[in-house]
Amino acid sequence: MYAVLLALAAFASALGVQEPIIDSEGRVEYFNPNLNGGSMLDNVGGGLGEPLNVIISGTSSPSVLTDDGVLNFARAIGFSEECFDIHLGAPQTANLGDGKGWTNQLIEFRQDYGNDGIGTCLESLIGGNHFRVWRQNGTLANSGALFFAVSKEEPLTEEHDVIPNGYNIGRDLLVSAALGDTEFYSVKYRTRARNITGLLAPGDTGVNHNISTDGIVTLLTVTIL
Ligand SMILES: *[C@@H]1O[C@H](CO)[C@@H](O)[C@H](O)[C@H]1NC(C)=O
Ligand SMILES: *[C@@H]1O[C@H](CO)[C@@H](O)[C@H](O)[C@H]1NC(C)=O
Ligand SMILES: *[C@@H]1O[C@H](CO)[C@@H](O)[C@H](O)[C@H]1NC(C)=O
Repeated sequence: MYAVLLALAAFASALGVQEPIIDSEGRVEYFNPNLNGGSMLDNVGGGLGEPLNVIISGTSSPSVLTDDGVLNFARAIGFSEECFDIHLGAPQTANLGDGKGWTNQLIEFRQDYGNDGIGTCLESLIGGNHFRVWRQNGTLANSGALFFAVSKEEPLTEEHDVIPNGYNIGRDLLVSAALGDTEFYSVKYRTRARNITGLLAPGDTGVNHNISTDGIVTLLTVTIL
């Protein structure tokens, strides 16, 4: 039996097919991005990257996982699209091990300081929390999960560097804002969190700005009520 399982596992890995991480009802939450050439660090250039430190589970309500859905959810938890759609940094790429290779971020959100339009411009000036989004939806791993690279930044005067401990702090602030019940544009969300270790290596190896992380990735499951 064991030999058969080993043979099956070898066959699966030869095909590049991954084992999904499933919930108690057998539904796919996400796939480990560290396989098929993927990484839990995105790519900012120069061989460095920023941690993908929050995952929105593939078991979330399907409409949360769409482009429009994640925008509404981001607004419910205090973020909005970049200041008048002006990108203040180059797009980053990530490889979620899903067979799509390195792809550009889908969208970038900034803390909105209580005002969708002007608030994100304020964030650009005074600094604050922000995140970039990718979707795990390739042929080798099609969970539909969203991966966020979250970091808290310095003001523009500091050239938008990440603050000390800004990856852990950014993640924890986003998670605190998301937990429990939130609402935007008449859509009500209920969000649960679970921490995952073993996906992202703790420390600062390969991490942009040499800022160390605790290696924790928080999985959020977002249900529309
Ligand atoms: C995956 O997501 C991207 C970005 O939203 C989209 O363009 C693409 O069609 C999706 N692929 C599948 C297989 O759903
Ligand atoms: C996840 O880890 C962070 C950092 O240690 C902690 O603050 C938070 O309470 C943890 N969340 C859960 C759901 O365990
Ligand atoms: C980051 O750490 C590496 C290895 O310790 C060091 O060589 C490099 O100068 C550091 N870079 C910065 C920007 O501090």
